[in-house]
Amino acid sequence: MTKPRLWITRRLSDATLERAARDYDTVINHEDTPGSADALIAASAEFDAIIPCHSEHFSADVAAQLDPRLKIIANHSVGVDHCDLPALAARGITVTNTPDVLSDATAELAMLLMLGAARHAVAGDRIVRTGAWDFWSPSFMVGKQVTGSRLGIIGMGRVGRAFAAKARGFDMEIHYYNRSPLPEDIAAGATYHDTVESLLSVADFLSLHCPATPQTTNLMNAERFALLPKGAVMVNSARGALVDEAALLKALASGQIAAAGLDCFQVEPGGNPAFAAHDNIFMLPHIGSATTRTRDAMGFRALDNLDAFFAGQTPKDKL
Ligand code: 8YV
Repeated sequence: MTKPRLWITRRLSDATLERAARDYDTVINHEDTPGSADALIAASAEFDAIIPCHSEHFSADVAAQLDPRLKIIANHSVGVDHCDLPALAARGITVTNTPDVLSDATAELAMLLMLGAARHAVAGDRIVRTGAWDFWSPSFMVGKQVTGSRLGIIGMGRVGRAFAAKARGFDMEIHYYNRSPLPEDIAAGATYHDTVESLLSVADFLSLHCPATPQTTNLMNAERFALLPKGAVMVNSARGALVDEAALLKALASGQIAAAGLDCFQVEPGGNPAFAAHDNIFMLPHIGSATTRTRDAMGFRALDNLDAFFAGQTPKDKL
């Protein structure tokens, strides 16, 4: 039986590429450049399946031009804001993602962002690294203590819950906003808020874990930053679209926000050049899921979805 033709748009983990090459007639973009709209459209006429990353944008316009040969887009990501799902469904294309397997890696990065932002990681590293550390004082680089503080989580999905579990190790008092409250055994003592505004009023630390949708664009805007307790720390390891970056800069300048930890930006790659001058913004380049174990698991999950599809079954992560 001929193997389905598979295009892998980026250089995934070695284990993923080996398994893909074994089971599919696979072409890999070894150059590892993001797939343009034209490349996606051209590939749809040559391949039965594509494994893309969030760097490949299947907009409504692209979806409308895809060749009917393409049957499945098995994303190597949990977030699917780069895919116009209704437009792809209208073309009869199956779309899957990779939930669960990256929750811990992303949650641990969110913890790093929270700790780094709260405890002056940027300025502290620089001052030692550059040899500028020539004094000490009891008031030098005094930060905000994470242990025992109140944490607000927006979005108690898989990553939000994994983050809450890690925060419990820091004895944090956990509050959350979600569309609906979690069952008691899963909430594990966390306090539910039925509005974002109510959550913000108690969040000395705030961590965002919701998807980017038209409803969550600029979720954190000037009005909402003003609702946080003064000197709060905000962490975003979800999507850049959730934060109005101009409003964040103003909130940092006024001291309303003491610090921010960001792995995601409105513009990626690149980030926001206006952030560079601010030591109280601890930044990482969208590496939440970037561990060897997790990247293997993401690749394997995408392949599991393909295997099910081509075996005539419904893939586990069909959206
Ligand atoms: C990945 C992510 O870096 O899975 C997601 O939604 O944002 C990240 O963990 C990326 O999507 C890998 O393709």
